[in-house]
Amino acid sequence: EVLIQENATGFCSVDGSVDSDHNGFTGSGFANTNNAAGNGVEWRVYVPAGGSYQLEWRYANASENNRAGSVVVNDTGVATVDFPSTGAWDSWSAATATISLNAGENSIRLEAISGEGLGNIDSLLV
Ligand code: GCU
Repeated sequence: EVLIQENATGFCSVDGSVDSDHNGFTGSGFANTNNAAGNGVEWRVYVPAGGSYQLEWRYANASENNRAGSVVVNDTGVATVDFPSTGAWDSWSAATATISLNAGENSIRLEAISGEGLGNIDSLLV
């Protein structure tokens, strides 16, 4: 398992900001994407063998609404994931998807479906 938090400058890319103003995050911050559909967070993930992998995001969502995301792997949409309310911005929970990765480097993008954007995303575990 590889825990991917953020590199020195943040996540691989965030359509928004990397913030630290709510408690309980790991690493140096969490991704706060802009509140509109289509905004997302991207990671580059290296795996030694192709096959099925579980992705697990740690997130917080104080909205009462599910902030569902689309999972785009190597530029192809492969899954949707629910990110239901966690009740508060400092209450963190996990959301998962099982997807296929290629041997070597993969790009993984989590993109907001809802007009509220994504919840706050702390980390990705592969
Ligand atoms: C608040 C909160 C942010 C969060 C945002 C949102 O502004 O402080 O951390 O990202 O709501 O609704 O997405």
